[in-house]
Amino acid sequence: MKDTPINYEIVTRHIAESKIRSIGKASIREIKRLINGIEKETGEKFVRMEMGVPGLPATEIGVLAEIEALKRGVAAVYPDIEGVPLLKQEAARFVKMFLDIEVDAANCLPTVGSMQGGFAAFLTFSKIHKEKDTTLFIDPGFPVHHQQHRVLGQKFESFDVYEYRGEKLRAKLESYFSKGNIHSVLYSNPNNPSWICFTDTELRIIGELANQYNVIIIEDLAYVAMDFRKDYSKPGVPPFQPTVAKYTDNYVMLISSSKAFSYAGQRIGLMIVSNKLFNTQAPDLLQYYTTDNVGRALIFGTVYALSAGTAHSTQYALAAMLKAANDGDLDFVEVVREYGEKAKIMKKMFTGNGFNIVYDKDEDDPIADGFYFTFSYPGFTGEALLEEMLYYGISAIALSITGSERIEGIRACVSLVTREQFPTLEARLKKFHESHPV
Ligand SMILES: Cc1ncc(COP(=O)(O)O)c(C=O)c1O
Repeated sequence: MKDTPINYEIVTRHIAESKIRSIGKASIREIKRLINGIEKETGEKFVRMEMGVPGLPATEIGVLAEIEALKRGVAAVYPDIEGVPLLKQEAARFVKMFLDIEVDAANCLPTVGSMQGGFAAFLTFSKIHKEKDTTLFIDPGFPVHHQQHRVLGQKFESFDVYEYRGEKLRAKLESYFSKGNIHSVLYSNPNNPSWICFTDTELRIIGELANQYNVIIIEDLAYVAMDFRKDYSKPGVPPFQPTVAKYTDNYVMLISSSKAFSYAGQRIGLMIVSNKLFNTQAPDLLQYYTTDNVGRALIFGTVYALSAGTAHSTQYALAAMLKAANDGDLDFVEVVREYGEKAKIMKKMFTGNGFNIVYDKDEDDPIADGFYFTFSYPGFTGEALLEEMLYYGISAIALSITGSERIEGIRACVSLVTREQFPTLEARLKKFHESHPV
């Protein structure tokens, strides 16, 4: 039997019993279940880096506002599908304060998590022009967005941006756009899983090509303001969170409350639709909706059909958190900065023990420290590495399930790792390094 930090026989048996054909290809939730089982039997705690969940308490301002709204009786009343006016106003203000973008409050829509915003966008935008039936993902990305396409039976294409940073992005995007079948492009910025952040050069290229080829840009800002290399925390004061909205008026932003406000459990996010897109007339929509107006189709066609809006009380929670941030009474960036601090320390432990950071640069700049980082180890594919690391009490996900072509890579999420676990993490990495000399 091998000498590994977690009992070799138990890990091997749990892997076999999980019936997961390849650990590296397993979904995040499957990995979670497997580790729970191993932890239970061995009594050993893993360093858990597989799930991208907030590791901080929910923002109290939101919790209190939600309780108050419930006590006022909102639970008995259907919310308006387009959202409560207070939330819409604060959402538009937030976009002005933290991204320096003007948008009408009418176009700021609550969704059941940003996840529903993506789903609603794909559903609606694939119907705007008959000939444009395909989404393009700038990957690596959030695996569930691919899954949304599969369950919808919709077409998508994707490429790994690793080799196409900076000016190289232009020709790559044009190679897709020029075919005429792409209705939308989705990317997250900062990026899940790699934590790359697009530079202004890249956002400009994306925006210019969106204008030229009439493609909608869905900018997923699940980690808004969390590139800690710059201070995006001061409302109304530059620098602002970079966005493609500076370069095109054909955009939707998805803003999640899950990480910025640690509000994942209440499932509320925002869809911010540009004024131009919201008011676009598209006759092809009439095949599916009673209107040819994009904004109306989105709200009264798609979101109505999905969930008839977003939970009433949580809308008041988000309104209160946004208002506090907009007024400068809540520094939400300072709260989540802890993720970046932890990433910095953890990345050092990995690189000090023979591991490499896979996505390591934004053009010429070293990548930021944040919610995720990616790593590899010489001689391993990501999938094999993931499995081997289970014996060392470290769990993560393989990059191959995120649309990444860096088959050697793994994604680590720092949120659930506590500082108290750092000595354990370091000892396990050291042991791994000793057992796998490079
Ligand atoms: C890039 C990205 N988009 C969207 C989401 C989902 O956000 P929400 O919890 O608001 O549905 C996540 C959550 O991990 C994410 O990482």
